[in-house]
Amino acid sequence: MPVVPIREIMDHAFSERYGIAAINVVDDLTLEAVLAAATELESPLIVQTSLKTVKAIGARPLYSMWRARADEVPVPVSLHLDHCPDREWITVCLRAGWNSVLFDGSALDVAENTRQTIEVVAEADGYGAQVEGEIESVVGVEDDVGSDEGGQVHPVEVSARFIEETQVYSFAPAIGTAHGLYKSAPELKPERVTDLVALHPIPMVLHGGTGLTAEQFADLISRGCAKVNISTALKIAFVDAHREYLDANPGKHDPPSLLSHVRAAVKKIAQHHIEMFGSAGRARALSGSTG
Ligand code: 13P
Repeated sequence: MPVVPIREIMDHAFSERYGIAAINVVDDLTLEAVLAAATELESPLIVQTSLKTVKAIGARPLYSMWRARADEVPVPVSLHLDHCPDREWITVCLRAGWNSVLFDGSALDVAENTRQTIEVVAEADGYGAQVEGEIESVVGVEDDVGSDEGGQVHPVEVSARFIEETQVYSFAPAIGTAHGLYKSAPELKPERVTDLVALHPIPMVLHGGTGLTAEQFADLISRGCAKVNISTALKIAFVDAHREYLDANPGKHDPPSLLSHVRAAVKKIAQHHIEMFGSAGRARALSGSTG
């Protein structure tokens, strides 16, 4: 069961109203650490890659790494391409085997975004993959994609029409969250999730997870955010753990010890979020439903 279509993980989370952590990994160490976290907690997991990481490692080497690791885990896992405005890279990743892609057409006007997303959904269908759609840019730059300026927020009816016309599997609405660290408490608009799910009951995606409170996560998940994206928290754990180890061991040149310290920090941050989102132990139910 290890690698499954993303809908097999997200359909259940959406109907039972728990969240699946979708964690951006940056290399083999972080990939292995988040999979180990999910395995220990018997949780399904979505592993995400930014376009920057795909370009840095290469789609095929990255996918080979993913399969080598994911095929070993006993919990259901899926691979997703995070914000990708570039159609060519969408094709590269779908061909390589990604289970899901976010075609980020939020810089386009809605009509053009709709037209292109319809094409991406048809393309992904051919690979048995799913598409996440987005019409409003999430505030904040994530691995070189996005902007610190807030973009236009559309009435939920516009999002609902986009979902209907494109048939995307999941949708990332603007709800007041932002990528990166919050400089002040975010003003969330959770009712937009409720309204959209009422119009179109498909899984919603919560972007900008790092820094939200357990209560905010619980509320948004209960309204239909089945996929909860976490990137900045992993990057901080990863970089700070390197710094911590090197500061504490200035004279040591022992890569395996350094890497094991970093792995422990990354695994811990992944477990913290998986537990908070309510997916721990859910792999058992899924193995029954997905066979
Ligand atoms: P954070 O960087 O705030 O964790 O958000 C992650 C995200 O939404 C990736 O798309």
